[in-house]
Amino acid sequence: MNNILLGVTGGIAAYKAVDLARRLTLLGFRVKVVMSENATRLVGPATFRAVTSNPVALSLFADGGAPMEHIDLAREADVVVVAPATANIIAKMAHGLADDLLSTTLLATRAPVVLAPAMNREMWSHPATVSNLETLRERGVRVVGPESGSLACGEEGPGRMSEPETIVEEVLAALGTNSLLAGVPVLVTAGGTREAIDPVRFIGNRSSGKMGYAMAAVAARMGARVQLVSGPSALECPGGVERVTVETAEEMREEVVERAPACRAVVMAAAVADFMPVKAHGEKIKRGSAEKLVLELVRTPDILAELSGIKPQGQVLVGFAAETGELLQRARAKMREKKVDMLVANDVTHPGSGFDSDYNRAVLLFADGREVELDLMPKAELAAVIWREVSALLDISGR
Ligand code: PMT
Repeated sequence: MNNILLGVTGGIAAYKAVDLARRLTLLGFRVKVVMSENATRLVGPATFRAVTSNPVALSLFADGGAPMEHIDLAREADVVVVAPATANIIAKMAHGLADDLLSTTLLATRAPVVLAPAMNREMWSHPATVSNLETLRERGVRVVGPESGSLACGEEGPGRMSEPETIVEEVLAALGTNSLLAGVPVLVTAGGTREAIDPVRFIGNRSSGKMGYAMAAVAARMGARVQLVSGPSALECPGGVERVTVETAEEMREEVVERAPACRAVVMAAAVADFMPVKAHGEKIKRGSAEKLVLELVRTPDILAELSGIKPQGQVLVGFAAETGELLQRARAKMREKKVDMLVANDVTHPGSGFDSDYNRAVLLFADGREVELDLMPKAELAAVIWREVSALLDISGR
């Protein structure tokens, strides 16, 4: 399990750091929070304690605290994220000042650091802040935001802290350097297949490919060697991913069945057609040719079921289930039918999630009977949750 150290300094946006802590905890990270004294005037430490289930560190000289707590915090962190980062903490970091627990820990750590600045626009554009951030960027510190908009001081302009989900993305990217799936070959499918009716028409579905592409992108960031077999999609191939594009369920089957045996994990996020026309017409069907048109359909190959039959020892097989009601009952039945290690069940009728949305809400079902219900979250975050579970299953099967 990775350790994230979240530093919270005294900006109004400190309240948004609670959501950030919650999201990171939900992703399976051990989150420890260090608050500056000013931050405690804006949000109570008890809130962070409740969200992370960990004590909150406040002072270099806390009663009962370990005497070298800053060194322990600095050493055990895999990533340090400061959100909100005030002009003051940015200045202290740039100049190596260490006069409280957070600044001391930041000086002592060698973990990647992510800063999410938040301040008044004049402070943001002040030459001192500009030059301090330049120094930090040169040292490899990642800076996310700030965004432009209305600021707590009543002015408009740059200075709003980025949204927690954007900061999570940056934390995941920073973690990519000490990656969870380093060198692990994985296969992901994405998008919907198209089954030709005639040269211009096809049977398709609403899948945009976003879920599968997020799975591929996050795996690549975690160090995996990723092959992506994709149905037609408008999305760009994520960096570091090898993509093969297919059109039909049969073509997807061929690519997947050939590639899967060499992979340690296979994730079928694609919306594969369940039926295809018995025969595709060689020429465009003319509207005038008949009053009624009956299409005869036949079942497509069930790729996932075939994969579970040929699964090599130790491979982790993940299916998705797109349901339109009775999510859990149907997903449990699918789990039994398809014999997968994990099933990601999503109700595609929920507004703001499922097909073509940047967000998804899912329940994870495991072969050992465990079920984990997740909140609505960006698809990239859901992908990270899934890969962390896959990685744990790979560890159990002896990586
Ligand atoms: O692409 P997006 O717009 O981001 O939308 C994401 C999504 C809704 C498509 C995705 O989250 C999702 O649910 N993908 C699975 C869609 C699906 O086909 O579900 P299903 O319940 O019909 O199939 C169950 C599993 O069997 C899936 O893993 C599917 O890939 C697989 N399958 C289905 C049919 C078939 N012939 N062969 C298969 O392998």
